[in-house]
Amino acid sequence: MKNQFLIFLIIQFVFNSCTQTKENILKASIDATLLKASSQYEYMMKNLPEGQYPKTYNATQDKLETSGSEWWCSGFYPGSLLYLNEEFNKPVFTKEIDKVLNDLKREQYNKTTHDLGFMMYCSFGNAERLNPKPEYKEILMNSAKSLASRYNDTVKCIRSWDSASWNKAGEDDLVVIIDNMMNLELLFWATHYSGDSTYYKIAVNHADKTMVNHFRSDYSSYHEVIYDENTGEIKAQITNQGAADDSSWARGQAWGLYGYVVMYRETKDQKYLQQANAIAKYILYHPNMPKDMIPYWDFNAPNIPNALRDSSAAAIIASALIELKDYVDGEMKQEYEQKAETILKNLLTPEYIAEVGTNGGFVLKHGVGNMPNNSEVDVPLTYGDYYLIEAMMRYKNQKIN
Ligand code: GLY
Repeated sequence: MKNQFLIFLIIQFVFNSCTQTKENILKASIDATLLKASSQYEYMMKNLPEGQYPKTYNATQDKLETSGSEWWCSGFYPGSLLYLNEEFNKPVFTKEIDKVLNDLKREQYNKTTHDLGFMMYCSFGNAERLNPKPEYKEILMNSAKSLASRYNDTVKCIRSWDSASWNKAGEDDLVVIIDNMMNLELLFWATHYSGDSTYYKIAVNHADKTMVNHFRSDYSSYHEVIYDENTGEIKAQITNQGAADDSSWARGQAWGLYGYVVMYRETKDQKYLQQANAIAKYILYHPNMPKDMIPYWDFNAPNIPNALRDSSAAAIIASALIELKDYVDGEMKQEYEQKAETILKNLLTPEYIAEVGTNGGFVLKHGVGNMPNNSEVDVPLTYGDYYLIEAMMRYKNQKIN
């Protein structure tokens, strides 16, 4: 009996040491990658034209591709810099952040896009979190008002795009894309800050509608749902960035997962936790999910296993899982932890992480922006970097049980 107990203790000790070692190896790898990211962003900064925002890098032409502040991705560059500055506190980053935020703030009044969450919350939301200022609060409130102006109370959704990309589009269309779930966090902030529940209600209505009409019974999702703006009826469930209308676009699944994790965090309504868990299950146990947990750009992409992976979807999933694990217990918690670790472990390798001075200054390689439009395919993506840096910071700063 005594011997058996001794053996049990030895096994426990070996198991715990292995787990500790695995965690420590990943933590060391995260530290090294954050350091690399910091050098990369200093390098990128030098090549970035005034008033421009990094989108991607064209390796053939050795060209950093950029946009103006109105592009949906403009918040990711200052957002990544804010995370890196949280870690490294570099005057060169502080100066750049101030400069970029000063330019980006004009978008607070932009009512032509639903992407204000991405643009303004990843940037000013992080800035406010790290260094609260009345100016940031005002900008975030105005951004939330602009986003809320796109809400249609008949459909009970925020309008994503101003026109449908499908050729039968009529004037009465109201297009909602799954990505829109990511913009709701800004609305919750607005209610927390102002006490006005309008924003909270819009977020809840949008998420509830999306849960019903974007998701199929297996928790895969449509990219686009087109509603009749006058009646709220569904006109079509289609895709723009996925392989097919009935396929499961990997980044869409990732946006959905992350979005419902935020919904649960902000409301504590169990139905959102159930939704997030179900989407996670779909993603993590999909027969087409590779062992390294870096998904193909679409779970139903043609030519799997030779289809391209989307590193940006992997980064978003990892970041979402690191938060989701804190809302569950037991085996599920362990499972989410391990899967997030697997994703990070496999992303933080030379296959996916660029050497300093290459990749246009971006950290992550091999993202897929829009395969059907043959745009930004197998390239770095500014949002891939943002969610990777966020995932690394979350992993580093949160207690792993
Ligand atoms: N429209 C956002 C994305 O490409 O995921």
